[in-house]
Amino acid sequence: MKQELIDIINDQNTVTNGRFIDKPVVPYVEKILNFAILVTYHTQGQLAGFIAYYCNDIVSKIAFLTLLCVKPEFAGKGIGQHLLNCSIEDVKSKGFTSFHLEVSKDNQLAIHLYERAGFEVISSMDKLFLMKKDLSHEG
Ligand SMILES: CC(C)(COP(=O)(O)OP(=O)(O)OC[C@H]1O[C@@H](n2cnc3c(N)ncnc32)[C@H](O)[C@@H]1OP(=O)(O)O)[C@@H](O)C(=O)NCCC(=O)NCCS
Repeated sequence: MKQELIDIINDQNTVTNGRFIDKPVVPYVEKILNFAILVTYHTQGQLAGFIAYYCNDIVSKIAFLTLLCVKPEFAGKGIGQHLLNCSIEDVKSKGFTSFHLEVSKDNQLAIHLYERAGFEVISSMDKLFLMKKDLSHEG
């Protein structure tokens, strides 16, 4: 699994000229495997995409989505939306009251996907938006 995650991230970094993940990939993947919740989507005998999120802050009850990634050859088939919905349901079921994420301002496709799932921009940094989905009023 570790190598598959590294490969999928490296592929995205190649496609985006290194703009996708701007930190060393191996320790980042190790951190995900050790501390995040990972949901994977397999099809045609291979890993097509995954979502990784942290549900560790049980005091604030804020969950954090660290990465959603679908292989380019499987893009546009609803896998990203499906993984995102799975994570939202899981975070809600664990009693978290909000779900946060950071996304590049130039990543229109991802921003659109997050907005449709009910996330909204709550602050703007240099190249990133911080987005939040409020779960406290959802059943
Ligand atoms: C963003 C990402 C996760 C979307 O995953 P996906 O499985 O392709 O998305 P979905 O198929 O669920 O589609 C979501 C929407 O984007 C559109 N879309 C997705 N890929 C598309 C493509 N290649 N061309 C045109 N539209 C596309 C879909 O049509 C859909 O919009 P709609 O419902 O209004 O038609 C994926 O493109 C990806 O991994 N990108 C690189 C990593 C990244 O940027 N992650 C997010 C930041 S952490």
